[in-house]
Order: sequence, then structure tokens, then C-alpha cells
Amino acid sequence: MDIAAVAALAPVIPVLTIEKTADAVPLARALVKGGLPVLEITLRTRAAIDALKAIAADVPDAVVGAGTVLNEAQLDQAQRAGARFGVSPGCTPALALAIEKSGMPFLPGVQTVSEALALAERGFRLLKFFPADTSGGPAWLRAISAPLPEIQFCPTGGINQENAPSYLGLPNVVCIGGSWVAPRATVAAGRWAEIEKLAAAAAQLKRNSPHP
Ligand code: 3PG
Repeated sequence: MDIAAVAALAPVIPVLTIEKTADAVPLARALVKGGLPVLEITLRTRAAIDALKAIAADVPDAVVGAGTVLNEAQLDQAQRAGARFGVSPGCTPALALAIEKSGMPFLPGVQTVSEALALAERGFRLLKFFPADTSGGPAWLRAISAPLPEIQFCPTGGINQENAPSYLGLPNVVCIGGSWVAPRATVAAGRWAEIEKLAAAAAQLKRNSPHP
């Protein structure tokens, strides 16, 4: 599955920062049951790699990936743990090279037109726009769709159920990412039914891009 196929699976990619490995599987099950099978585990906690391994092993319907991948070492570590795709907040030439070498489906992050162009020159056509809300939001994406119609985006950062439609309605947005479907306190309390409901609402969000 390439990154476009991963992004086509659901309108929302939950961005998960997991503090306790034991939370990983019930959290992933609740999100998948709610209709969000693509999960991004940020590599920001000590539990992240074990959480990724646990989901890859025990939640076969999830397509689990690693987020906050900043360099080649983290990319390798994530791939060995079973990550099926990767996400980064920005991208350096060294990271782009590592992504190309790994063959891993990947959503590299950009914040500017020049960053998007540099990655498009290397063949990346689907990019994460981060941090979306503070970097121009839907207006930026709309403005860039005319000069750069070939590039598509997964905006992330500051998106929630309320402002999601203003992103998903754009022709160059294939999906969005966000942490709102798995609030920290809800995860800590193990309120999985609540998370399933948040996921179900997010899964109903409509896309306007050429993807299903
Ligand atoms: C992140 O990397 O933290 C994501 O972009 C999630 O952002 P959010 O918490 O604003 O949804």
C-alpha cells in the first residue's frame, strides 16, 4: 500500500501520543471499531515503540504508522517495530533520502510553498501540512491549489470535529490528522466507548478530494 492508499482509507488519521503501553491495544480497537483504521503513534514517549508493536501484532484491522519521525534512526526503529507508514512534522534532505531508501509509505511535513516544491521535485505528491491551523489553515491550502494542483495534503495541527469540514471540503486535502479523537484524559481513564463515539463521528466527515 502506498501513502495515497493509506490516506484513502479514512478521512481522519488519529494522532496518538501513548504514555502507557497497556493502553495501546484497547485504544486502537476503539478507534478501528469507530471507523478509523489508520493510526499514527507519535514517537514522543518511552512507550511509543512498544505501543506500535502491540497494535501491529494484536489489532490486524489497524494500519499503524509512526509519527514525529525526525531522522533515519527513528525511521528504522519504527519500521522494525511494524510501522506501515511514517509521518514527520517537517523534512530535511537527509530525512527525505532515508525515506526514499526505506521504501516506507511516508507523509513528510511542510509549512511553506518552497518546502512543498522541494519535496514534489523528489517525487513526493502527498504531504502533511503542519502546523495547519497556525500556518494559514484552509486559506493557505486553497491558495496553493491553483499554482500547485499536483500536490495533495494531509493537514494536521489544531484540527477538531468542528473545523474539520473546512479542510476536508478542499480539493487538495485527502485526509486530516488530529488528536481530538483520543483526548489524553479519556485515554488515561480508559473510557474506550467514548473514544469509539468520537471516532465514529470523525469517520462520518465527508471529503471533497478525488479520493473516496
Ligand atoms: C501533532 O503532531 O501533535 C499533531 O499534529 C496533532 O496536533 P493536534 O493535537 O493539534 O491535533
